[in-house]
Amino acid sequence: RFDSLIQRTIPAFRNKRMTLGTSSVGFVPTMGALHEGHLSLVREAREKNDIVVSSIFVNPTQFGPSEDFDKYPQQLQEDARMLEELGVDIIFAPNKDEMYTDNHTTKVMPEIFETTAEGKSRPGFFTGVATVVTKLLNVVQPTNAYFGQKDAVQCCVIRRIVEDLNIPTNVVIMPTVRESDGLAMSSRNAYLTLEERLIAPVVFKSLLAGEQAWLDNDKQASAEEIVAEVQKVLNQEPMVNEVQYVSVDSNINMLPIDSVGPEGCCLSLALKCGEVRLIDNIVFGAI
Ligand code: PAJ
Repeated sequence: RFDSLIQRTIPAFRNKRMTLGTSSVGFVPTMGALHEGHLSLVREAREKNDIVVSSIFVNPTQFGPSEDFDKYPQQLQEDARMLEELGVDIIFAPNKDEMYTDNHTTKVMPEIFETTAEGKSRPGFFTGVATVVTKLLNVVQPTNAYFGQKDAVQCCVIRRIVEDLNIPTNVVIMPTVRESDGLAMSSRNAYLTLEERLIAPVVFKSLLAGEQAWLDNDKQASAEEIVAEVQKVLNQEPMVNEVQYVSVDSNINMLPIDSVGPEGCCLSLALKCGEVRLIDNIVFGAI
C-alpha cells in the first residue's frame, strides 16, 4: 500500500518531485516509528508550505557499534498511513544502499559538536547525522526543513551545516512534544517496560528542579549548583542506573558554560532507565 506516496530511490523521488511543480517544499526528516513529536513537525510543514516531504531512513552511520541499529523500531506502513492522513505529498524511504553506495567516502564533520556532552557520549554520532542530513537536503532541496528541540545539539549541527555549506534551506526548530506526565516523546520509549515507563518522567522533573534552583536564586546560579539539583532528584529513583551526563550549556551553541545568569541556558541530560537510553533538555531564560 501507499505505493505512489512512498519513493524508494533518489531518481524516483526527483521525478515525483518534478511533477509537483516549483512551489515551496517543507521537509521533515525522520527515522520512522512516528509519534506526536514527529507529527507536530509535519503539521507545521503542512501549514507553511505548498508541498510536504518526509523521509524515513534509519541512518546506519549515526549508530555506534553497541547501539540499537538492528532493533530500531520499523513500521513503514503504519508511518505512511499517519503521514498520508496529515497530507504529506511524498515519503522518501530509501534503503541503505541507495544512500550509501559501496564507494561512499565523504563525511560531514561538525567537529566542535563532538565535544558537547551528547557528542562525547556518542562518538561519531554527529558526523553521521550531519552527513545524512546534508545528503537528504541535497536530494530533497527543501525551502524549509523542520527539526525538534528534543535533540538540542542536532539543531545546532544542522544550523551550522546549512550556513557553512551554503545550503539554500531555512531551518525551523519546533518545541519538544511531551506525554501528559512530562516524558519527552521518543521512538525509543517503546523499549521501556511498564515499570520503567512509570518512573521515566523523573527525567523532565529533574530538569525542572534544576531550573527552579536558578529561579530561586534570582536567575543566577553556577552550573555546578544546577547539576547538583538535577542529580538530587535523579538519585531518588533507583531504576535510573546510569546518568551519562547532566550538562549546562549555552542555548546558542550547546557548548558548556560555568555559570548561568538571566540570559539562561540549555540544561540537558542523558541517562539509562533500565536498558533504555533517554535524553531530554529544557531551555530557560531569555533567548
Ligand atoms: P528522529 O529521532 O526520528 O527524529 C526526527 C525529528 O523529530 C527530529 O528533528 C527530532 O528532533 C524530532 N523529534 C523527535 N522527538 C520529538 C519530540 N518529542 N518533540 C519534538 N520533536 C521531536 O532525529 C533524527 O530522527 C535523525 O537524527 C535524523 C535528523 C532523521 C537524521 O537521521
